[in-house]
Parts: sequence; structure tokens; C-alpha cells
Amino acid sequence: MFQSLANRLTLRALHCVDAETAHGVTIRALASGVYPRFSNTSLPSLRQEVLGLSFPNPLGMAAGFDKNGEVPDAILGMGFGFAEAGTVTPRPQEGNPRPRLFRLPADQGVINRFGFNNEGHAALLARLEARKGRGGIVGVNVGANKDAADRVADYVAGIRTFAHLASYFTVNISSPNTPGLRDLQAKAALDELLSAVMAERDAQSLQVGRKVPVLLKIAPDVSAEGLEDIAEAVLTHKVDGLIVSNTTLSRAGLRDTQTAQEAGGLSGRPLFRRATVILARARKLVGPDLPIVGVGGIDSPETALVKITAGATLLQIYSSLVYKGPGLVPAILKHLDGELKRGGFSSLAGLRSANVDAWAGENLD
Ligand SMILES: Cc1cc2nc3c(=O)[nH]c(=O)nc-3n(C[C@H](O)[C@H](O)[C@H](O)COP(=O)(O)O)c2cc1C
Repeated sequence: MFQSLANRLTLRALHCVDAETAHGVTIRALASGVYPRFSNTSLPSLRQEVLGLSFPNPLGMAAGFDKNGEVPDAILGMGFGFAEAGTVTPRPQEGNPRPRLFRLPADQGVINRFGFNNEGHAALLARLEARKGRGGIVGVNVGANKDAADRVADYVAGIRTFAHLASYFTVNISSPNTPGLRDLQAKAALDELLSAVMAERDAQSLQVGRKVPVLLKIAPDVSAEGLEDIAEAVLTHKVDGLIVSNTTLSRAGLRDTQTAQEAGGLSGRPLFRRATVILARARKLVGPDLPIVGVGGIDSPETALVKITAGATLLQIYSSLVYKGPGLVPAILKHLDGELKRGGFSSLAGLRSANVDAWAGENLD
């Protein structure tokens, strides 16, 4: 469908090796300039001014693909409207032992328990310094080291280190692979974290001459009450937006019951419904205007459109690229452009939240 013969053969070859090796090969290929360039992804109807930034199109690469900021320009060259480096922690860390990345082809899903393997702030800083001035929207997703004595201080250090280089920040408190990290989503802990992060962002804005937007990335496994608390905290602390969502701990409905037993976060098609319901509920709680990045299980032009109508302002994908390849990017954008024309809308705002009530009312039990 979205795949040329070369694309299909490349995907088949990558699926012959273990998932983490395939990812490493992909990053090296992108870093050396070997990647498909799609030039027809600048469709005027899809441009949006969001977060004070000019997004050429709404589709971004989700965090975790380019943890160390090795290939943001290749990602943008593939037609993505924005890239997100990270999650990055102050000090480098190895993450969990291998294997820690698993494909579930029968479900079109992925399970990972990487545990924030990354090269640390200094390495990402050097790479982002080196591409300074090249333009394009490149966000930085910040996290805390597993053994951090003070996790809040790690997030604050991320804001301080990258404020002059990040188009936006993502505060990731929703990875299931760092023990206790998701506890930061609880009311009191979240208040403390957001107070510190937003204060540092404001302090840095005097140095860098702009308020770098901060997005909070949440889990799809939050309770109704937990989501209400998060929405309230986001509004109270004037956080600039949400990313909904990270991977899920749920294993509901999987066909590959063997791989389903692997510990870690599940992403891809099996995440779509849960992430979209939480997105719609979050949209209703924060109101019509707060930017929300919809992510989780988008694997076709149709599911991308559903995320918009469930309340997303922007989109991100990751897992479906493993199965469908990069041709999915222009296919999604062409479809969104076509739907806008068909409905007589001049921008995505015309489609946003059209089905938010139906999605928010879906049962997740
Ligand atoms: C292998 C892998 C690694 C990931 N690493 C991160 C990460 O470091 N930080 C983060 O915020 N999200 C991370 N994610 C979550 C994705 O950014 C995204 O939220 C999730 O996969 C849902 O989108 P998808 O279904 O399109 O993959 C990772 C996902 C995968 C599959």
C-alpha cells in the first residue's frame, strides 16, 4: 500500500535480525544519509502555528526512536513535521539487559523495556550544538536517571541544559521501565515537579529570549481521577501542552500470548484504542485550545485522522514504522489534506475534536 518494492525488501531484511539490532542499523543508515526523502509533505493546508512554533505538518516522530539526537535532520528529511530527541537523562545509562525490545507481528505491536538507555546530556548537547541554525522543529524529551537521588533535579537540569537548543521540551513521567517514574504523575509529586520545571523554564527564558514550550507526556494507564488531577495540574502550572500517550502496561486482547508475557510497555496497534480514549478524555478536561499531541497506535492514514477528530492538535508515530516503513508518512499527510479539502476546511482545526465525546465515552475496562 504505502510501500515501494525497495521499502518492502528493506523491511523484510530488517525483520530477519533481532529488533534492537534492526533499530541500530536503521539509525546508522539515516545518519549516513541513506533514507527516503519525501518532498511532497509541505501541504499548505497542514501548516499550523502551535506552541509559538510553525509546524510544516502535524506528524512528528515520537520519542525513543532517536534517543541520542543522532538523526533529527534525517527524520525531518523523511517528511516529518517535527522530531523529538530523547528521552535523555543527565548521566549516560545502559538501560536494562538485552533482549529488551520485542515485535508482536500478529498484533502489529511492540513491547520495550529499554529503561532509558541513552548517552546522557553532554552527548545530546554536542549533537544539537552541531546542528544549530539548521532549522526544523526538534524537541528534547527529558527524564531522570534510574538512580537519581533527586528526580525533580534531573528534569530541571534537562531544561537548563537544552533551553537554548530545544524547540520544545517533553517532560516524560510515563515510561513504565524506570521503577517509580510513573509515581510522578500523582497529584502532590506532579505539583512539585511542575513547579520546579516551569520555574526553570521561566528563568531560562530570560537567557534565551523566548519561553520554550513544555509538554507533559502521560501514560494511558491513568485512572479517571488520576487524569483529572493531571489536567488540573497542567492548567494550574500553565504547562503548554500534553502528549497522550506513552506505552501501556495492559496486554488486553493480544494474539501473541507468548511475547505478551514480556515485561515492558506495549505500543503500536494494540495501544490505539486506549491511547485515543485517554486523549479524548484529556481534551475534554483541558478545554478545546490546549495543544495535545496524539500518539499511540497510529498505523494508517485513517487512524491518524481519528486521532485528530478525538482531539489531537499534533500527532506522533513510532511503532507502525517497524511494520509499514517510512512511506506511511506521506500517505498520512496526503490523506489528511484530502479530508480537509473534502470537508471544505482550511486547516486541521476544522476537524479537531469532531468525535471527542464518542471517544471519551468509550469504556476501557
Ligand atoms: C522502542 C521504543 C522506545 C521508546 N522510548 C521512549 C522514550 O525514551 N521516551 C518516551 O517518552 N517514549 C518512548 N517510547 C514511547 C513512544 O514515544 C510512543 O509514546 C509510544 O510508542 C506510542 O506510539 P506508537 O504506538 O506510535 O509507537 C518508546 C517506544 C518504543 C516502541
